[in-house]
Amino acid sequence: MGKKAREIVDIDLKDLIKDLDKAYCDEWLAFYAWWYMAQAVEGKGYEDMQEFLNKIAKDELEHAAELAERIIELGGLPTNRIANLEKGANSPYPGVMKDLADYDEIIKIVTEAEAGAIEVYNKLAKKTFGKDHDTYQLVTHIMGEEITHEEMFENLKD
Ligand SMILES: [Fe+2]
Ligand SMILES: [Fe+2]
Repeated sequence: MGKKAREIVDIDLKDLIKDLDKAYCDEWLAFYAWWYMAQAVEGKGYEDMQEFLNKIAKDELEHAAELAERIIELGGLPTNRIANLEKGANSPYPGVMKDLADYDEIIKIVTEAEAGAIEVYNKLAKKTFGKDHDTYQLVTHIMGEEITHEEMFENLKD
């Protein structure tokens, strides 16, 4: 990102980079939990649950990549140590199901974390609206996918 491009970002850059990095950490934690549950899930019809979890895990990993790209464009660097991802996140690690065939627990874990993600991106959208167009576009795009994730898992409830 060039000088002028950085100049038109009408927001405290350090603060924005920090917010984006927190979201970046959240995405890794979510990716890991969804991916892990996709590997471990058991029980009747587990293939469907596995497919849903793999789909959202893939999206979270993409979100992490998109956030990393934007952080670097803005002149920052995303968290570079695995051990610091939990400390740097907005929310604690979502965790995984205790009973591998407990779909209700999986749905609860996912919908709660997705609701948290929607809040994070909604705040970021409000913060960047009219101030940093590219980041605004990115966070609203990610928020749209988190909304889809929440809905996908809410629809799995009995
Ligand atoms: Fe995400
Ligand atoms: Fe998500």
